[in-house]
Amino acid sequence: MPVITCIDDLKRLHKARTPRMFYDYAESGSYTEQTFRENTTDFSKIRLRQKVAVDMSGRSLASDMVGLPVSMPVGLAPVGMTGMQRADGEIKAARAAEAFGVPFCLSTMSICSIEDVALHTTRPFMFQLYVMKDQEFLENIIARAKAANCSALVLTLDLQILGQRHKDLRNGLSAPPKLTPSSIADLATRWRWGIEMLQTKRRFFGNIVGHAKGVTDTANLASWTAEQFDPQLDWTKIARIRDLWGGKLILKGILDAEDARMAADFGADAIIVSNHGGRQLDGALSSIRMLPEIVAAVGDRVEIHLDSGIRSGQDVLKALALGAHATWIGRAWVHGLGALGQEGVTAALEVIRKELDVTMALCGERDIRNVGRHNVLVPAEWSSDYV
Ligand SMILES: Cc1cc2nc3c(=O)[nH]c(=O)nc-3n(C[C@H](O)[C@H](O)[C@H](O)COP(=O)(O)O)c2cc1C
Repeated sequence: MPVITCIDDLKRLHKARTPRMFYDYAESGSYTEQTFRENTTDFSKIRLRQKVAVDMSGRSLASDMVGLPVSMPVGLAPVGMTGMQRADGEIKAARAAEAFGVPFCLSTMSICSIEDVALHTTRPFMFQLYVMKDQEFLENIIARAKAANCSALVLTLDLQILGQRHKDLRNGLSAPPKLTPSSIADLATRWRWGIEMLQTKRRFFGNIVGHAKGVTDTANLASWTAEQFDPQLDWTKIARIRDLWGGKLILKGILDAEDARMAADFGADAIIVSNHGGRQLDGALSSIRMLPEIVAAVGDRVEIHLDSGIRSGQDVLKALALGAHATWIGRAWVHGLGALGQEGVTAALEVIRKELDVTMALCGERDIRNVGRHNVLVPAEWSSDYV
């Protein structure tokens, strides 16, 4: 096992070991990628307040997310097609999360199906839902998540229409990859990936193929997805989904204080302040920059989580200090998976846990639940920069 010091080490290995179309799929944002970039650069503008001569023994990172105990407040965010980053990727990630004591959220657009992940894990995971026009499919997939005993439904609200990612078009992204002269040349240098992929049956969108009418292969799937994401998703439809589901509901993709108020009035169990990792509305502000305004609007009424741009334990601490109750990571765990499979996801979590623990201690805190605004320094112009 190579020495892993930080998430960037995993990212480098991910790039070297994974076919280009899948690495690029993960490591890109929409259009000019401004929001994608600022998600990370804005974290680096926040500074930490050092405290000394404070007893730092007996530290605890333990917390909870929608009432469920977690070993640290960091979940594995839903990421589509992770079974293409590495064979059986969703199962590997779910197992790593389970052993670590943090939540794993399975994407609607996963390669391994809900049932398959349930079969290979022992504790409930969360399920992320994209709302489709096909009512039968929608009701069926909610019923399948219930049958698999999923612990919460994460309803994604910021992708009813797809932001364009230039690289995916140029690379001809598909699952499994189409064989063209350039993809064959690329795959030839990623032999380890190919051998593992040949040994698994899981190479298609497991939640969809065989479950949605008329979708029997991935060629149909691309057009089905474009046609099927429901552009009319609104609060009435969200209420219907809540009633069908009947369990804990997390609303993902909130980036506006007024939308956050609607979510709080609606009675969501939590919201995830997110811009989909900079993959949707290019030009939106980073999640971390929008967080204080949203916390001020609804922090006392709904549990607030944050994702987009987290690459370290320091970033997690900054998000918690600015009022998030918990955080989610996307690319950070995908880099681990692409680099080293299940061990790589564990390594990513381990890197973040250690960074979070040391940073918390050097900030003079012993319990992650006590981290707050007093631990960080935020640029004075942040709140007035944009109006
Ligand atoms: C490759 C990739 C695929 C994604 N697929 C989904 C998805 O299927 N459903 C979803 O709700 N979010 C999806 N997301 C967004 C993540 O859940 C999360 O919001 C984002 O990755 C957080 O930003 P970060 O990658 O900077 O941590 C995806 C993100 C990436 C990078």
